[in-house]
Amino acid sequence: MIEILEHGRTFHLKTRHTSRILHVTETGHVMDLYWGSRVEGDAFGYMIKDIKKASYLCGTDGDGAFRLEQYPVLYPGWGNPDLRSPAFSFCYEDGSRITDLRFDGYELRQKKEKLPGLPTLLDSGAEAFRLFLRDSVKQVCLTLEFGIFEKLDAMTQSVRVENKGDQPFTADRLMSACVSLMEDGLQAVTLTGAWGRECTRNSLPLCQGIFQTGSTRGAGGHGQNPFMALTQKGLEERDGQIWAVNLVYSGSFLCEAEVDMHQNTRFMAGIQPEGFSWRLEPGESFYSPEAVLIHSDRGLEEMTHRFHRLYRACLLRSHERRTPPVLLNSWEAAYFDFNKETLLALAKEGASAGAELFVLDDGWFGRRNGADSSLGDWTENRKKLGGSLKELAEEIRGLGMEFGLWFEPEMVSPDSCLYRSHPDWAIQVPGRRPQLARDQLVLDLSRREVQDYIIEAVDRVLSSAPITYVKWDMNRNITDWYSSALGAGCQKELGHRYILGLYRILEKLTEKHRNVLFEGCAGGGGRFDPGILYYMPQIWASDDTDPIERLEIQTGTAMVYPAVSMGCHVSASPNHMTGRLSPLSVRGVTAMEGNLGYELDLTGLAQEEKEEIRRQIHFYKEIRSIIQEGDLYRLRSAGNERAWMYVTENREQAVVSYVRILSRPNTVPGRLRLYGLDPLFTYQVQDQESGTALLRTGSSLMHIGLALPKGTGDFYGTQYTLVRSWNLPCTHLCG
Ligand code: DGJ
Repeated sequence: MIEILEHGRTFHLKTRHTSRILHVTETGHVMDLYWGSRVEGDAFGYMIKDIKKASYLCGTDGDGAFRLEQYPVLYPGWGNPDLRSPAFSFCYEDGSRITDLRFDGYELRQKKEKLPGLPTLLDSGAEAFRLFLRDSVKQVCLTLEFGIFEKLDAMTQSVRVENKGDQPFTADRLMSACVSLMEDGLQAVTLTGAWGRECTRNSLPLCQGIFQTGSTRGAGGHGQNPFMALTQKGLEERDGQIWAVNLVYSGSFLCEAEVDMHQNTRFMAGIQPEGFSWRLEPGESFYSPEAVLIHSDRGLEEMTHRFHRLYRACLLRSHERRTPPVLLNSWEAAYFDFNKETLLALAKEGASAGAELFVLDDGWFGRRNGADSSLGDWTENRKKLGGSLKELAEEIRGLGMEFGLWFEPEMVSPDSCLYRSHPDWAIQVPGRRPQLARDQLVLDLSRREVQDYIIEAVDRVLSSAPITYVKWDMNRNITDWYSSALGAGCQKELGHRYILGLYRILEKLTEKHRNVLFEGCAGGGGRFDPGILYYMPQIWASDDTDPIERLEIQTGTAMVYPAVSMGCHVSASPNHMTGRLSPLSVRGVTAMEGNLGYELDLTGLAQEEKEEIRRQIHFYKEIRSIIQEGDLYRLRSAGNERAWMYVTENREQAVVSYVRILSRPNTVPGRLRLYGLDPLFTYQVQDQESGTALLRTGSSLMHIGLALPKGTGDFYGTQYTLVRSWNLPCTHLCG
């Protein structure tokens, strides 16, 4: 909902529980007065007068003496005369770099629209507020667009730049969102890590200066996620204010927080300015990607709920089948070493365990028997597959499973027919030897003919066989930035043009193959972002399938991204990456934090292990809607014991998972307090390990807690299901 106050000078953007207030000063500057818990009132301009300027800046607020340095400028430009970190910076043909934006009107729109060429959060109930700003000297116009998802307590922000002048200029920096908080003493929470250790939660107190998290890799990368939250209290789960931003973008990004000398905190997110610029000819426009803004006054838990509900409703576009299947992936089972017989033997075991989809990972095309060849040559290797893909897919379907396939379409192996015919299609600087990573180069997706080649190649394979799932991998960062199709002055556009090209490819393929579930992957979670999720509603969270490592990775990933978007697999013990031995039970419990899958050689397992896997899959199918659609409550997310639960919206069902990492002698198992239940409901609590069932009230489960099992050995895990019991009144309970 949007309220226009103070004769069209104040704009109050409201969701159910939050407010953002913008205000136009007499000088025409637009101020970001407030973002936080919902407030009411019919005037807020007084906040500007309340700002006490430092003595040396005192003066009238007339145009000449007006200083922006201490004001919460909504979208500050470089050097004018706010000298803090700018939201944007433009360079004009005459070499000047000052842009002076003033209010130029607004527009309310009942319906939020898709951004051209960019993934966008859409919802029939979302409104949009457009604020127009203009520089009257250069005739540069900016439209700041705010999306308001009232029921979901979320907002989005993006920027459109239009060159309405008669000279070209370049944008060197253009943040999607910039927020001014008139306070300091906050902490920055980020998700950082590395390959095999993605999305580790960090919290760092901010002090005067600039704190950034970002990437220059052409993707978000394994090291940092395009998310940053400012919090009053660090990683406080259920307490304190949180202001969070998540960029709907899959390329190099920047999230930045600046604490200035007057105790304000400026917070922004957008395309990484390092290595970026965009030339706008007269009449041209540029759209920034969208940023999602979530505020919570009940700590990280509420922030997570708001992100998850928003993404489930407005980002993860439906493919024909809503429920992600339990899959069996061939990668850790066979790597490159398979033939038709071994694949079918594996698939047979998967089918009898209850898996719903068989995924043939890397190695099915060209001459690909290792990582050093054939990327780009998307033609089935009939010899290796013992026939066509179609025949294989049909045989697998005959076993009662769907068939899925791995691709890495953005890459090319130097040892490939594609590279031999089009060496200039790879990103590399002419005359220099390019860096190889995993023996491959990156295709120049800024080029239309490369995009069309990929669309055609993937489409041809998908149309040739009954394939209902694609794993879309991307296994290296971009280096050697240069496109032979771009002029010298436009080379810094390559990173963003690459991402626009990728989005165009994904738009075309997902539109044409609506029955196919696309799962994103970038050597695991190297590109886990809302931009990818818009096209591929599921992402492989990490190549690290060790259940203990996954506890950290999944806890971090699920801070922002819902369980239904997170691919989690049970793999072999000892784990191929860490060498750690762990029981099948704890591997199952951990993988059930998201979309369950298996990735190990089932044919080599003992009969009792096969039985256990069958039970796990059967159990997961019963509870998966709770996990995939429920609210996540982190019960213990650090230390030796980890526990989390998912609760349905009506609070009638829940699944609780508990993992104890190391066994410790002479300790008494404690109690686990649950959250998110209805205190007045009675629940039947079923212990999955012992099979026993208890009746407990919601209030007792939340305040007294669930008695934890003793459990022996390292790496112990168990689960409980809770179902509202309609039969017994509370007074009959022992709770
Ligand atoms: C990296 C992925 O993350 C793995 O799961 C697997 O698909 C390999 N690539 C295949 O090369």
